[in-house]
Amino acid sequence: MDAKVSALLNEQINKEFYSAYLYLDMANYYDAKGLDGFANWFEIQAREEQDHAMLMYQYLHNNDQTVTLEAIAKPDKVYAELIDPLKAAYEHEQFVTASIHTIYAAAKAADDFRAMQFLDWFVKEQGEEEKNASDLITKMELFGSDARGLYMLNQELAGRVYSAPSLVL
Ligand code: FEO
Repeated sequence: MDAKVSALLNEQINKEFYSAYLYLDMANYYDAKGLDGFANWFEIQAREEQDHAMLMYQYLHNNDQTVTLEAIAKPDKVYAELIDPLKAAYEHEQFVTASIHTIYAAAKAADDFRAMQFLDWFVKEQGEEEKNASDLITKMELFGSDARGLYMLNQELAGRVYSAPSLVL
């Protein structure tokens, strides 16, 4: 396997676990505000990020690569408004998309077709992640300033259920 692609995927494992930590911190924030549905949404998001990390971990192992686990940074964002975590989550997903694209470009440059095929799932997944994050901001802007609207939105987000990733290695 190409050394650069391997190193980038190894770094991405850390970014995915950091994403999980960041979203768990957002769940923590909403839970403290009494918004259990928002907290549920982000708890599930955090689980998905752990899945992403484990898929990369497994992929590297399947390709005889050594994985190095680095320290996961502390989520240190402070949120002033209820909508702020949603905006931060959207920005973070855009950052992750750029990161996945960088790995894809490295795989393409190295003619690492297997890695490209593996990463195809993540390219698509990032499209969904960005859309979900953006949709949440839109809903919050539309309904969040009204107590009844916020209650309904919280109820909607409480209904999110975890499902394992569709990608199986
Ligand atoms: Fe692992 Fe939210 O992208």
